[in-house]
Amino acid sequence: MKTLNDIRSTFLSYFERNGHEVVPSSPLVPRNDPTLMFTAAGMVQFKNLFTGVETRDYSRATTAQKCVRAGGKHNDLDNVGYTARHHTFFEMLGNFSFGDYFKEDAIPLAWDLLTKGFGIDESRLLVTVYHTDEEAVQIWKKHAGLSDDRIIRIATDDNFWSAGPTGPCGPCTEIFYDHGDHIWGGPPGSPEEDGDRFVEIWNLVFMQYEQLEDGTRRDLPNQSIDTGMGIERVAALLQGTNDNYATDLMRSLIEASADASNTDPDGPGKTHHRVIADHLRSTSFLIADGVMPSNDGRGYVLRRIMRRAMRHAHLLGVQDPLMHKLVPALVGQMGAAYPELGQAQSLITETLQLEETRFKQTLERGLKLLEDEVSGLDKGAHLSGQAAFKLYDTFGFPLDLTQDALREKGMGVDTDGFDAAMAEQKAKARAAWAGSGEAADATVWFDVADKHGTTDFLGYDTESAEGQIVAIIKDGAVADMAKAGDTVQIALNQTPFYAESGGQVGDTGTIRTDGALIRVTDTRKAADVFIHFGTVEEGEVTPSKAAVLTVDHARRTSIRANHSATHLLHEALRGALGDHVAQRGSLNAADRLRFDFSHAKALSAQELSQVEQEVNDYIRQNTAVETRIMTPDDARALGAQALFGEKYGDEVRVVSMGREDGSGKGTDKSTYSLELCGGTHVRQTGDIGAFVLLGDSASSAGVRRIEALTGSEALAWLREQQMALAGIAEAMKTSSADVPERVKALMEERKSLNNEVAQLRRELAMVGGGGATAPEAVDVGGIKFMAQVLQGVTGKDLPALVDEFKASLGSGAVLLIADTSGKAAVAGGVTADLTDKVSAVDIVKAAVVELGGKGGGGRPDMAQGGGASAENAEGAIAAATAILKG
Ligand code: ALA
Repeated sequence: MKTLNDIRSTFLSYFERNGHEVVPSSPLVPRNDPTLMFTAAGMVQFKNLFTGVETRDYSRATTAQKCVRAGGKHNDLDNVGYTARHHTFFEMLGNFSFGDYFKEDAIPLAWDLLTKGFGIDESRLLVTVYHTDEEAVQIWKKHAGLSDDRIIRIATDDNFWSAGPTGPCGPCTEIFYDHGDHIWGGPPGSPEEDGDRFVEIWNLVFMQYEQLEDGTRRDLPNQSIDTGMGIERVAALLQGTNDNYATDLMRSLIEASADASNTDPDGPGKTHHRVIADHLRSTSFLIADGVMPSNDGRGYVLRRIMRRAMRHAHLLGVQDPLMHKLVPALVGQMGAAYPELGQAQSLITETLQLEETRFKQTLERGLKLLEDEVSGLDKGAHLSGQAAFKLYDTFGFPLDLTQDALREKGMGVDTDGFDAAMAEQKAKARAAWAGSGEAADATVWFDVADKHGTTDFLGYDTESAEGQIVAIIKDGAVADMAKAGDTVQIALNQTPFYAESGGQVGDTGTIRTDGALIRVTDTRKAADVFIHFGTVEEGEVTPSKAAVLTVDHARRTSIRANHSATHLLHEALRGALGDHVAQRGSLNAADRLRFDFSHAKALSAQELSQVEQEVNDYIRQNTAVETRIMTPDDARALGAQALFGEKYGDEVRVVSMGREDGSGKGTDKSTYSLELCGGTHVRQTGDIGAFVLLGDSASSAGVRRIEALTGSEALAWLREQQMALAGIAEAMKTSSADVPERVKALMEERKSLNNEVAQLRRELAMVGGGGATAPEAVDVGGIKFMAQVLQGVTGKDLPALVDEFKASLGSGAVLLIADTSGKAAVAGGVTADLTDKVSAVDIVKAAVVELGGKGGGGRPDMAQGGGASAENAEGAIAAATAILKG
């Protein structure tokens, strides 16, 4: 038997032998098409090659492309479980020519693979062609020998393929397989075509036009080929069945579901197993490609699929979460072809388990409410919109889950009533917002969110993507257009730009549309709409335009490094200082990081160096940084750091980095840092490069602040320090290593020189050096009085000099005035035997007034004061003399 994996490799190697490049599947979230919710065909990643906008070094390619058709334009969700061939996830095998070969080669290549490569019985094959495509008819006749009755001309869009309202398109030919008359159904174009007997297995599109926005079509620069073959359908026919769910891969998943639920795979729960097997694939692949369950956009489609599967698991009678147990079976089947599945296995498992555990809490009560609501209703009746909304709002039942549950009873939902209830709730939320005191201009963004939905953030996985402009704000109001020179704020349906939050600054970069270039200088968020602030540099920009968004890679790389280093720093501080250390604020900019934390006293040099060293140790460990989603409670139970007072949603991102041997955090205690965080991080701790702690300062009472650098900024800083040191060493004529010793020696030398200078000044003063006249005592009313103006001494030198003069007088009074660079210092002294007659304080006070000063004080035997200048020294001496005279 040819397994599905065999079929995939046979297909790819067949086209490889025929000159095609084997190109990996692109992600399920298209990076290059903002109009698509999910990748739903193989050609999506090659869109720009068909139109000639992009060229690569190959002109033929082949892929096995992951596709999801749920939500958005292509939506098969409702049919899954009830038909033999609908899936939310499937693989499309395809071969592509970009201006290389055209129909005359594409048809033979396909026919030969089916009939010779896969050995399909030719007599069971028939084809359709676009009614005007005579060329294709002739090729089929010539190469495959098909008779006219097996070439069916179709005039509808069924045989004119386009990926969307705009883009490359062209007529197509589809190959059908006839399962035989034991199955009901008619050939394509017949009234019974919807039956399961004739199944389309391969679509060959002859790409030759481009559909433009204005409704016109132009020729593509080169005629091209795009084909798509559903691998599950081919597997079914090659394995002798018309039921995709009976093929080896799907069957193994169904059996895993039956095993885990201890039920019969083919018993009454058959439909449930099919739904579970299909939804297991779509949810796991979506999570592996970065989609997380949420209440909006792609995340909500994922949540809807997950919950639909969970309801079917519940219907099997399973009490405990089931889906996550099936992940190993899926990885076993598809992990070799899609390595991303194995890489994300723990994320997929945890996300499924978390969603299922949480949904279990309301599922049963919701189903009970549903039962009660419909118990009196007849078949064909509709559940009220109010009830469906309550199920949605209170019990987490997506509308299509309620519809799925009612479908089994032959009932529906009043969807208009549901929409009305939803609108009413939004209006209430809006009124609450308006009264919440948020800045008035933020209400603009609430309008945008209301009308266009919130922004899908793609920036955890990519730094460039296409988005569709949903609103342009100019001068605080919605604008139809902005032109070169205008300052604008732009919102798009999706963006790789990170909006400032959690201390991480917003991204900068460019937004390009057909004719315009906008330079983005900041990105912020309001009402979950990402606002790109910037200036139109070229052309004119209008809403609804597709745009290419490119984040400034170098800047984002530095921001990532700083943010990840902050997590390591936080943990290192807790290790060094204790568990009281809690984050109080942070800034993760491109050029530095700042971290405020609770701690009462300054860090010692030793603590700083310990912290810096520890952070660098974990950088060098170079282990993967992992992100998971869980409830805040689970995250805390694992030991994750949460911000005090921060309000978290139902689910949080938990970022872990650094490996420990059993003494860390997490379930197996192997994680160094575990934090709740919505920011963007490095992939490996080694990407941080280096960490330099600049120092610690007080931020506010009980809060310290550390500033630090990483990567090239850290190295540049170190280099600067080194240069400065080298400069000092050179000036000191020594080596950098000897600078500390030399500086110490110089300081000591300076100290002893200072002492020596002071001593010399005093000695000089004693012998009249520096003074206007030699010191000479005069008799004032029987008291020997010596007054002197001194240059070159300071106020500090005066008391010692006063003492020396007093000693030389034996009995008497002294007044010294130091003329110090524009100021005057005054000291006076009276020998002990005379202090009852005259006080040094009075002498000084009298002198100071004459020198333009005030006050002065001390003891009767020694006093000091200061004046504005020594200019009137004579007046000061006269005033002192007058005091002595009494
Ligand atoms: N792009 C074509 C399809 O999806 C092959 O059917």
